[in-house]
Amino acid sequence: MTVQIDLTGRVAMVTGGGSGIGRETSRLLARSGAAVGVADRDTAAAQGTVELITAAGGTAVALRVDVRDPAAAAAAVADTLAHLGRLDILVNNAAAWTIKLFKDLTLADYEHDIGVSLIGAMVMTRAAYDVMREQGDGRVVNLISDSGRVGEPFMVAYGAAKAGVIGFTKGFAKEAARYGIRCNAVSPGTTKTPGAQPVIDKWGGEEKLLAAYPIRRLGEPADQANAILFLCSDMSSWVTGQILSVSGGYTMAD
Ligand SMILES: NC(=O)c1ccc[n+]([C@@H]2O[C@H](COP(=O)([O-])OP(=O)(O)OC[C@H]3O[C@@H](n4cnc5c(N)ncnc54)[C@H](O)[C@@H]3O)[C@@H](O)[C@H]2O)c1
Repeated sequence: MTVQIDLTGRVAMVTGGGSGIGRETSRLLARSGAAVGVADRDTAAAQGTVELITAAGGTAVALRVDVRDPAAAAAAVADTLAHLGRLDILVNNAAAWTIKLFKDLTLADYEHDIGVSLIGAMVMTRAAYDVMREQGDGRVVNLISDSGRVGEPFMVAYGAAKAGVIGFTKGFAKEAARYGIRCNAVSPGTTKTPGAQPVIDKWGGEEKLLAAYPIRRLGEPADQANAILFLCSDMSSWVTGQILSVSGGYTMAD
């Protein structure tokens, strides 16, 4: 028997869908049958993902949104409903990181990293929550990071934000379960994306990093997209408030 995840009839929104893990996730959700709202502050990048999806026979729309802005978030949800009819899945993937030593980080850097990475996930979830509650069904997947779990140098404000996303994931999962809404997190290890390359360089390059990874390769966006797909699907219907580490064994649960 072939087991296949089928999201036909489902509608997803992926923030930061114009690049890296967000692009790959948008493409995989679309290949699994979902219609996808590709939400990004970079409209051209979002449109690029939409073109890849439609060229492969899928359905997607580009949504311009800065995840920090509640009005833009509400407009993105309204556009998704207008174009795609419903909203079942939200992937809070957009994030921002300032690569500096803590002594050099400014208040503006704290506000930027925490604003996009933590507050952005909360703003987008709030915008989607009423629709999901009315449907009695919803799946939220938040991208977190080892920076927020075991700590990493040069990214302290970002790590603080991602630790906050863990608290948000768990608290929201407990509140929202009564409405048929599940919320989980995927925690990527270093994954080869346009956004991660400056971090890989700062930490001394790929070869140096590999020594810390029991499975001796860095992640590919597809590694993360596969885990996100599982958490968006009915295959994880009794899973909520959890963190799935996708990191080649770099970080292991207690
Ligand atoms: N790549 C890694 O090694 C790694 C490791 C741990 C966690 N993560 C997490 O995975 C997620 C994706 O990372 P990536 O490496 O694919 O990133 P990326 O930089 O390749 O892509 C991020 C996307 O988010 C968009 N974005 C940024 N700020 C935004 C905002 N305010 N509003 C809307 N869109 C915005 C960007 O335009 C871009 O398209 C992030 O949450 C990141 O923290 C990645």
